[in-house]
Amino acid sequence: MKLITNIHQLLVTGEFTGPVCGKAMSQMPYITNAYLIIEEDRIYDFGPMEDLPPVAAVEIIDATGKIILPMWCDSHTHLVYATGREDEFVDRINGLSYEEIANRGGGILNSVARLRSMSEDALYEDALKRLQQLIALGTGAIEIKSGYGLSVAAEKKMLRVIARLKAAVDIPIKATLLAAHAIPTEYKENRAGYVQLIIEEMIPAFAKAKLCDFIDVFCESGYFTVAEMEAILTAGKQHGLRPKVHVNQFNAIGGIAAAVNHDALSVDHLEELAQEDIEALQGSNTIPVALPGCSFFLSIPYTPARRLIDAGLPLAIATDYNPGSAPSGNMNFTVAQASIQLRMTPEEAIIAATINGAFAMDVASKVGSITKGKKANLIITTPQKSYNTLPYRFGYHQIDQLILNGELL
Ligand code: NIG
Ligand code: FE
Repeated sequence: MKLITNIHQLLVTGEFTGPVCGKAMSQMPYITNAYLIIEEDRIYDFGPMEDLPPVAAVEIIDATGKIILPMWCDSHTHLVYATGREDEFVDRINGLSYEEIANRGGGILNSVARLRSMSEDALYEDALKRLQQLIALGTGAIEIKSGYGLSVAAEKKMLRVIARLKAAVDIPIKATLLAAHAIPTEYKENRAGYVQLIIEEMIPAFAKAKLCDFIDVFCESGYFTVAEMEAILTAGKQHGLRPKVHVNQFNAIGGIAAAVNHDALSVDHLEELAQEDIEALQGSNTIPVALPGCSFFLSIPYTPARRLIDAGLPLAIATDYNPGSAPSGNMNFTVAQASIQLRMTPEEAIIAATINGAFAMDVASKVGSITKGKKANLIITTPQKSYNTLPYRFGYHQIDQLILNGELL
Protein backbone atom coordinates (compact mmCIF):
# COMPACT_ATOMS: atom_id res chain seq x y z
CA MET A 1 0.00 0.00 0.00
CA LYS A 2 1.02 3.58 -0.66
CA LEU A 3 -0.22 6.46 1.45
CA ILE A 4 -0.21 10.05 0.22
CA THR A 5 -0.60 12.55 3.02
CA ASN A 6 -1.26 16.29 3.50
CA ILE A 7 -2.62 16.79 -0.02
CA HIS A 8 -3.41 20.50 -0.28
CA GLN A 9 -6.37 19.88 -2.63
CA LEU A 10 -7.53 16.44 -3.76
CA LEU A 11 -9.82 16.88 -6.75
CA VAL A 12 -12.46 14.27 -6.10
CA THR A 13 -14.42 14.53 -9.29
CA GLY A 14 -16.81 11.91 -7.91
CA GLU A 15 -18.70 8.88 -9.17
CA PHE A 16 -20.34 9.16 -12.53
CA THR A 17 -22.71 7.14 -14.65
CA GLY A 18 -22.42 9.52 -17.59
CA PRO A 19 -20.58 12.65 -18.69
CA VAL A 20 -20.89 15.75 -16.51
CA CYS A 21 -23.33 18.19 -18.13
CA GLY A 22 -24.07 21.90 -18.03
CA LYS A 23 -24.00 23.57 -14.61
CA ALA A 24 -22.70 20.42 -12.92
CA MET A 25 -19.40 20.96 -14.77
CA SER A 26 -18.68 23.98 -12.61
CA GLN A 27 -19.05 21.99 -9.41
CA MET A 28 -15.95 19.97 -8.81
CA PRO A 29 -15.77 18.67 -5.27
CA TYR A 30 -12.34 18.65 -3.64
CA ILE A 31 -10.96 17.81 -0.23
CA THR A 32 -8.57 20.22 1.46
CA ASN A 33 -5.73 18.62 3.44
CA ALA A 34 -6.48 15.10 2.28
CA TYR A 35 -4.98 11.63 2.27
CA LEU A 36 -5.18 9.02 -0.46
CA ILE A 37 -4.39 5.32 -0.20
CA ILE A 38 -3.33 3.23 -3.18
CA GLU A 39 -3.48 -0.54 -3.22
CA GLU A 40 -1.63 -2.16 -6.09
CA ASP A 41 -2.77 -0.26 -9.19
CA ARG A 42 -6.02 1.10 -7.71
CA ILE A 43 -7.35 3.96 -5.64
CA TYR A 44 -8.29 2.27 -2.39
CA ASP A 45 -9.46 5.10 -0.14
CA PHE A 46 -9.23 8.85 0.44
CA GLY A 47 -10.57 11.51 2.78
CA PRO A 48 -9.62 14.44 5.01
CA MET A 49 -6.41 13.96 7.03
CA GLU A 50 -8.32 14.07 10.32
CA ASP A 51 -10.16 10.88 9.27
CA LEU A 52 -7.01 9.00 8.23
CA PRO A 53 -7.37 5.42 9.53
CA PRO A 54 -4.34 3.50 10.76
CA VAL A 55 -2.65 2.04 7.67
CA ALA A 56 0.28 -0.26 7.21
CA ALA A 57 1.71 1.68 4.30
CA VAL A 58 4.87 0.51 2.66
CA GLU A 59 5.53 3.91 1.20
CA ILE A 60 4.44 7.36 2.37
CA ILE A 61 4.42 10.30 -0.02
CA ASP A 62 4.08 13.74 1.52
CA ALA A 63 2.07 16.06 -0.76
CA THR A 64 2.15 19.20 1.38
CA GLY A 65 1.06 22.20 -0.70
CA LYS A 66 0.37 20.06 -3.78
CA ILE A 67 -2.78 19.34 -5.76
CA ILE A 68 -3.70 15.81 -6.83
CA LEU A 69 -5.99 15.18 -9.78
CA PRO A 70 -6.63 12.32 -12.21
CA MET A 71 -4.29 12.05 -15.20
CA TRP A 72 -5.63 13.66 -18.36
CA CYS A 73 -7.85 11.72 -20.77
CA ASP A 74 -7.10 12.84 -24.33
CA SER A 75 -10.02 11.55 -26.41
CA HIS A 76 -8.90 12.79 -29.85
CA THR A 77 -5.42 12.44 -31.34
CA HIS A 78 -3.65 11.51 -34.56
CA LEU A 79 -0.51 10.45 -32.70
CA VAL A 80 0.69 8.02 -35.40
CA TYR A 81 2.16 9.99 -38.29
CA ALA A 82 5.32 10.05 -40.35
CA THR A 83 6.89 13.46 -39.83
CA GLY A 84 6.05 17.01 -38.86
CA ARG A 85 4.82 19.51 -41.49
CA GLU A 86 6.98 22.48 -40.55
CA ASP A 87 7.20 23.46 -44.24
CA GLU A 88 3.43 24.06 -44.38
CA PHE A 89 3.60 25.86 -41.07
CA VAL A 90 5.97 28.37 -42.61
CA ASP A 91 3.74 28.61 -45.71
CA ARG A 92 0.89 29.59 -43.42
CA ILE A 93 3.00 32.17 -41.63
CA ASN A 94 3.69 33.59 -45.08
CA GLY A 95 -0.03 33.93 -45.76
CA LEU A 96 -1.45 30.70 -47.18
CA SER A 97 -4.51 29.19 -45.48
CA TYR A 98 -4.89 25.55 -44.38
CA GLU A 99 -7.40 25.14 -47.21
CA GLU A 100 -5.07 26.63 -49.82
CA ILE A 101 -2.26 24.35 -48.69
CA ALA A 102 -4.57 21.31 -48.90
CA ASN A 103 -5.72 22.34 -52.41
CA ARG A 104 -2.08 22.37 -53.54
CA GLY A 105 -1.70 18.71 -52.51
CA GLY A 106 -0.35 19.53 -49.07
CA GLY A 107 -2.22 18.93 -45.83
CA ILE A 108 -3.52 15.47 -45.08
CA LEU A 109 -2.37 14.08 -48.47
CA ASN A 110 1.15 15.28 -47.73
CA SER A 111 1.14 13.21 -44.53
CA VAL A 112 -0.35 10.27 -46.46
CA ALA A 113 2.50 10.20 -48.97
CA ARG A 114 5.07 10.33 -46.18
CA LEU A 115 3.38 7.64 -44.11
CA ARG A 116 2.96 5.22 -46.98
CA SER A 117 6.71 5.16 -47.56
CA MET A 118 7.59 4.60 -43.91
CA SER A 119 7.92 1.15 -42.37
CA GLU A 120 5.60 -0.05 -39.64
CA ASP A 121 8.54 -0.46 -37.27
CA ALA A 122 9.78 3.09 -37.81
CA LEU A 123 6.26 4.48 -37.36
CA TYR A 124 5.88 2.47 -34.19
CA GLU A 125 9.18 3.64 -32.69
CA ASP A 126 8.31 7.30 -33.32
CA ALA A 127 4.75 6.94 -32.04
CA LEU A 128 5.97 5.19 -28.91
CA LYS A 129 8.37 8.05 -28.16
CA ARG A 130 5.57 10.58 -28.64
CA LEU A 131 3.26 8.62 -26.40
CA GLN A 132 5.89 8.43 -23.67
CA GLN A 133 6.34 12.21 -23.91
CA LEU A 134 2.60 12.69 -23.50
CA ILE A 135 2.46 10.41 -20.48
CA ALA A 136 5.22 12.51 -18.92
CA LEU A 137 2.96 15.51 -19.52
CA GLY A 138 0.18 13.83 -17.55
CA THR A 139 -1.86 12.00 -20.17
CA GLY A 140 -3.17 8.74 -18.71
CA ALA A 141 -5.60 7.58 -21.43
CA ILE A 142 -5.66 8.33 -25.14
CA GLU A 143 -7.57 7.76 -28.36
CA ILE A 144 -5.51 7.46 -31.56
CA LYS A 145 -6.84 7.61 -35.12
CA SER A 146 -5.71 6.15 -38.39
CA GLY A 147 -6.31 8.34 -41.45
CA TYR A 148 -2.89 9.01 -42.95
CA GLY A 149 -2.87 5.75 -44.91
CA LEU A 150 -6.03 5.93 -47.04
CA SER A 151 -5.41 2.52 -48.62
CA VAL A 152 -6.15 -0.91 -47.19
CA ALA A 153 -2.47 -1.64 -46.61
CA ALA A 154 -1.49 1.74 -45.18
CA GLU A 155 -4.55 2.10 -42.93
CA LYS A 156 -3.85 -1.39 -41.65
CA LYS A 157 -0.24 -0.41 -40.99
CA MET A 158 -1.39 2.54 -38.87
CA LEU A 159 -3.90 0.43 -36.94
CA ARG A 160 -1.25 -2.21 -36.31
CA VAL A 161 1.01 0.48 -34.87
CA ILE A 162 -1.79 1.49 -32.50
CA ALA A 163 -2.32 -2.17 -31.55
CA ARG A 164 1.40 -2.45 -30.74
CA LEU A 165 1.16 0.69 -28.59
CA LYS A 166 -1.78 -0.87 -26.74
CA ALA A 167 0.30 -3.97 -26.05
CA ALA A 168 3.39 -2.03 -24.99
CA VAL A 169 1.99 0.81 -22.86
CA ASP A 170 -0.20 0.19 -19.86
CA ILE A 171 -2.72 3.01 -20.19
CA PRO A 172 -6.18 2.78 -21.81
CA ILE A 173 -5.69 3.32 -25.56
CA LYS A 174 -8.55 3.34 -28.09
CA ALA A 175 -8.10 2.98 -31.85
CA THR A 176 -10.32 4.79 -34.34
CA LEU A 177 -10.56 3.99 -38.04
CA LEU A 178 -10.42 7.31 -39.92
CA ALA A 179 -10.00 5.99 -43.45
CA ALA A 180 -12.50 8.72 -44.41
CA HIS A 181 -10.02 11.48 -43.61
CA ALA A 182 -9.54 12.63 -47.23
CA ILE A 183 -10.03 11.21 -50.72
CA PRO A 184 -6.67 9.70 -51.72
CA THR A 185 -5.14 10.92 -54.99
CA GLU A 186 -5.70 7.60 -56.79
CA TYR A 187 -9.46 7.92 -56.17
CA LYS A 188 -9.66 11.62 -57.04
CA GLU A 189 -11.98 10.92 -59.99
CA ASN A 190 -13.81 8.09 -58.21
CA ARG A 191 -14.80 9.16 -54.71
CA ALA A 192 -17.70 6.66 -54.66
CA GLY A 193 -15.12 3.94 -55.25
CA TYR A 194 -13.14 5.05 -52.20
CA VAL A 195 -16.21 5.16 -49.97
CA GLN A 196 -17.03 1.68 -51.22
CA LEU A 197 -13.50 0.50 -50.41
CA ILE A 198 -13.91 1.74 -46.84
CA ILE A 199 -17.34 0.14 -46.47
CA GLU A 200 -16.73 -3.15 -48.21
CA GLU A 201 -13.09 -3.88 -47.43
CA MET A 202 -11.61 -1.83 -44.64
CA ILE A 203 -14.41 -1.83 -42.07
CA PRO A 204 -15.18 -5.57 -42.22
CA ALA A 205 -11.52 -6.61 -42.28
CA PHE A 206 -10.26 -4.27 -39.55
CA ALA A 207 -13.25 -4.86 -37.28
CA LYS A 208 -12.85 -8.61 -37.63
CA ALA A 209 -9.15 -8.35 -36.77
CA LYS A 210 -10.14 -6.17 -33.76
CA LEU A 211 -7.81 -3.44 -35.01
CA CYS A 212 -10.25 -0.62 -34.23
CA ASP A 213 -12.76 0.39 -31.57
CA PHE A 214 -14.45 3.37 -33.26
CA ILE A 215 -15.25 4.75 -36.72
CA ASP A 216 -14.53 8.36 -37.73
CA VAL A 217 -15.24 10.50 -40.80
CA PHE A 218 -14.02 14.01 -41.63
CA CYS A 219 -17.42 15.45 -42.57
CA GLU A 220 -16.56 18.77 -44.23
CA SER A 221 -16.86 20.66 -47.51
CA GLY A 222 -14.09 19.34 -49.76
CA TYR A 223 -13.74 16.13 -47.74
CA PHE A 224 -16.77 13.87 -47.02
CA THR A 225 -20.43 14.80 -47.42
CA VAL A 226 -23.09 14.10 -44.83
CA ALA A 227 -24.49 11.31 -47.04
CA GLU A 228 -21.06 9.68 -47.40
CA MET A 229 -20.54 9.93 -43.65
CA GLU A 230 -23.90 8.29 -43.00
CA ALA A 231 -23.10 5.38 -45.31
CA ILE A 232 -19.75 4.84 -43.58
CA LEU A 233 -21.23 5.12 -40.08
CA THR A 234 -23.97 2.64 -40.98
CA ALA A 235 -21.36 0.14 -42.14
CA GLY A 236 -19.26 0.79 -39.04
CA LYS A 237 -22.21 0.13 -36.79
CA GLN A 238 -22.90 -3.21 -38.51
CA HIS A 239 -19.40 -4.20 -37.43
CA GLY A 240 -19.69 -2.91 -33.88
CA LEU A 241 -17.81 0.37 -34.37
CA ARG A 242 -19.38 3.37 -32.66
CA PRO A 243 -18.88 6.74 -34.41
CA LYS A 244 -16.60 9.51 -33.15
CA VAL A 245 -16.56 12.06 -35.92
CA HIS A 246 -14.85 15.22 -37.18
CA VAL A 247 -17.65 17.73 -37.87
CA ASN A 248 -18.17 21.49 -38.14
CA GLN A 249 -14.48 22.41 -38.26
CA PHE A 250 -14.78 24.94 -41.07
CA ASN A 251 -18.46 24.69 -42.08
CA ALA A 252 -21.73 23.63 -40.44
CA ILE A 253 -23.16 21.26 -43.07
CA GLY A 254 -25.54 19.20 -40.94
CA GLY A 255 -23.03 16.61 -39.78
CA ILE A 256 -23.92 16.93 -36.11
CA ALA A 257 -27.59 15.94 -36.46
CA ALA A 258 -26.59 13.07 -38.74
CA ALA A 259 -23.95 11.85 -36.28
CA VAL A 260 -26.45 12.06 -33.40
CA ASN A 261 -28.90 9.97 -35.47
CA HIS A 262 -26.17 7.36 -35.76
CA ASP A 263 -25.68 7.43 -31.98
CA ALA A 264 -22.17 8.86 -32.20
CA LEU A 265 -20.19 8.65 -28.97
CA SER A 266 -18.71 12.07 -29.73
CA VAL A 267 -18.74 14.89 -32.26
CA ASP A 268 -15.41 16.69 -32.37
CA HIS A 269 -14.23 20.17 -33.47
CA LEU A 270 -17.48 22.24 -33.62
CA GLU A 271 -15.70 25.51 -34.29
CA GLU A 272 -18.71 26.44 -36.45
CA LEU A 273 -21.92 25.76 -34.62
CA ALA A 274 -25.51 26.52 -35.61
CA GLN A 275 -28.38 26.67 -33.15
CA GLU A 276 -29.86 23.54 -34.75
CA ASP A 277 -26.61 21.69 -33.99
CA ILE A 278 -27.06 22.46 -30.29
CA GLU A 279 -30.67 21.34 -30.46
CA ALA A 280 -29.63 18.09 -32.13
CA LEU A 281 -27.22 17.39 -29.27
CA GLN A 282 -29.74 18.09 -26.51
CA GLY A 283 -31.23 14.88 -25.16
CA SER A 284 -28.74 12.75 -27.10
CA ASN A 285 -25.97 10.42 -25.91
CA THR A 286 -23.40 12.23 -28.05
CA ILE A 287 -20.62 14.18 -26.34
CA PRO A 288 -19.32 17.39 -27.95
CA VAL A 289 -15.52 17.64 -27.92
CA ALA A 290 -13.62 20.93 -28.34
CA LEU A 291 -10.08 20.99 -29.73
CA PRO A 292 -8.72 24.41 -28.83
CA GLY A 293 -5.16 23.61 -29.92
CA CYS A 294 -6.38 23.35 -33.51
CA SER A 295 -8.10 26.76 -33.34
CA PHE A 296 -4.96 28.24 -31.82
CA PHE A 297 -2.64 26.76 -34.42
CA LEU A 298 -4.80 27.43 -37.51
CA SER A 299 -6.14 30.79 -36.28
CA ILE A 300 -9.74 29.69 -36.79
CA PRO A 301 -12.64 30.35 -34.39
CA TYR A 302 -12.70 28.56 -31.05
CA THR A 303 -15.52 26.13 -30.30
CA PRO A 304 -18.26 28.10 -28.50
CA ALA A 305 -17.94 26.14 -25.28
CA ARG A 306 -20.14 28.51 -23.30
CA ARG A 307 -23.05 28.02 -25.68
CA LEU A 308 -22.71 24.24 -25.35
CA ILE A 309 -22.35 24.15 -21.56
CA ASP A 310 -24.98 26.83 -20.97
CA ALA A 311 -27.37 24.72 -23.09
CA GLY A 312 -26.96 21.99 -20.47
CA LEU A 313 -24.68 19.81 -22.61
CA PRO A 314 -21.53 17.98 -21.54
CA LEU A 315 -18.21 19.03 -23.06
CA ALA A 316 -14.86 17.25 -23.33
CA ILE A 317 -11.61 18.83 -24.47
CA ALA A 318 -8.80 17.08 -26.31
CA THR A 319 -5.56 17.99 -28.08
CA ASP A 320 -6.25 16.78 -31.65
CA TYR A 321 -2.50 16.12 -31.69
CA ASN A 322 -1.53 15.86 -35.39
CA PRO A 323 1.18 17.25 -37.70
CA GLY A 324 -1.11 19.57 -39.67
CA SER A 325 -3.55 21.39 -37.45
CA ALA A 326 -2.41 20.83 -33.86
CA PRO A 327 1.18 19.70 -33.45
CA SER A 328 1.03 19.56 -29.65
CA GLY A 329 -0.33 16.78 -27.49
CA ASN A 330 0.12 18.73 -24.26
CA MET A 331 -3.16 18.49 -22.34
CA ASN A 332 -1.94 21.01 -19.76
CA PHE A 333 -1.94 23.61 -22.51
CA THR A 334 -5.37 22.42 -23.70
CA VAL A 335 -6.75 23.01 -20.19
CA ALA A 336 -5.25 26.50 -20.12
CA GLN A 337 -6.70 27.28 -23.55
CA ALA A 338 -10.11 26.05 -22.41
CA SER A 339 -10.09 28.59 -19.60
CA ILE A 340 -8.44 31.43 -21.50
CA GLN A 341 -10.06 31.09 -24.94
CA LEU A 342 -13.21 29.02 -24.37
CA ARG A 343 -14.06 30.86 -21.13
CA MET A 344 -14.42 27.65 -19.20
CA THR A 345 -13.85 27.91 -15.45
CA PRO A 346 -10.92 25.85 -14.15
CA GLU A 347 -13.47 23.36 -12.75
CA GLU A 348 -15.16 22.98 -16.14
CA ALA A 349 -11.84 22.69 -17.95
CA ILE A 350 -10.50 20.02 -15.58
CA ILE A 351 -13.73 17.99 -15.78
CA ALA A 352 -13.70 18.32 -19.58
CA ALA A 353 -10.10 17.05 -19.68
CA THR A 354 -10.58 14.13 -17.30
CA ILE A 355 -13.92 12.42 -16.68
CA ASN A 356 -15.68 13.81 -19.76
CA GLY A 357 -12.70 12.91 -21.94
CA ALA A 358 -12.85 9.41 -20.45
CA PHE A 359 -16.53 9.12 -21.40
CA ALA A 360 -15.81 10.46 -24.89
CA MET A 361 -13.59 7.39 -25.51
CA ASP A 362 -15.48 4.90 -23.35
CA VAL A 363 -12.85 4.36 -20.66
CA ALA A 364 -14.65 6.08 -17.77
CA SER A 365 -15.21 2.87 -15.83
CA LYS A 366 -11.43 2.60 -15.38
CA VAL A 367 -9.98 6.13 -15.35
CA GLY A 368 -10.85 9.83 -15.43
CA SER A 369 -11.73 10.49 -11.80
CA ILE A 370 -10.52 9.97 -8.25
CA THR A 371 -12.96 7.22 -7.39
CA LYS A 372 -12.40 4.17 -5.21
CA GLY A 373 -11.57 1.18 -7.37
CA LYS A 374 -10.42 3.17 -10.39
CA LYS A 375 -6.84 3.04 -11.64
CA ALA A 376 -4.42 5.06 -9.52
CA ASN A 377 -3.37 7.28 -12.43
CA LEU A 378 -2.66 10.57 -10.72
CA ILE A 379 -1.02 13.93 -11.33
CA ILE A 380 0.74 15.42 -8.32
CA THR A 381 1.40 19.10 -9.03
CA THR A 382 4.16 21.33 -7.80
CA PRO A 383 3.16 23.23 -4.64
CA GLN A 384 0.62 25.86 -5.62
CA LYS A 385 -2.12 28.08 -4.29
CA SER A 386 -5.05 26.17 -5.74
CA TYR A 387 -6.09 24.19 -8.81
CA ASN A 388 -6.95 27.53 -10.45
CA THR A 389 -3.20 27.95 -10.89
CA LEU A 390 -3.15 25.11 -13.45
CA PRO A 391 -4.75 27.07 -16.33
CA TYR A 392 -3.56 30.42 -14.94
CA ARG A 393 0.17 29.71 -15.20
CA PHE A 394 -0.15 28.45 -18.77
CA GLY A 395 2.97 27.08 -20.38
CA TYR A 396 4.72 26.25 -17.09
CA HIS A 397 5.55 22.71 -16.16
CA GLN A 398 3.41 22.25 -13.07
CA ILE A 399 3.65 18.48 -12.70
CA ASP A 400 5.85 17.37 -9.84
CA GLN A 401 5.21 13.61 -9.94
CA LEU A 402 2.98 11.14 -11.72
CA ILE A 403 1.51 7.93 -10.41
CA LEU A 404 0.64 5.46 -13.16
CA ASN A 405 -1.05 2.18 -12.28
CA GLY A 406 -0.16 2.82 -8.64
CA GLU A 407 3.55 3.31 -9.30
CA LEU A 408 5.53 6.53 -9.08
CA LEU A 409 6.94 7.34 -12.52
O1 NIG B 1 -8.49 17.06 -36.78
N1 NIG B 1 -9.72 17.88 -39.52
C1 NIG B 1 -9.16 16.91 -39.97
N2 NIG B 1 -8.09 16.30 -39.50
C2 NIG B 1 -7.11 16.85 -38.63
C3 NIG B 1 -6.06 17.58 -39.38
C4 NIG B 1 -5.23 16.65 -40.12
C5 NIG B 1 -4.03 17.22 -40.81
O2 NIG B 1 -3.98 18.39 -41.22
O3 NIG B 1 -3.10 16.42 -40.94
C6 NIG B 1 -7.78 17.68 -37.56
O4 NIG B 1 -7.66 18.89 -37.48
FE1 FE C 1 -8.59 15.49 -35.58
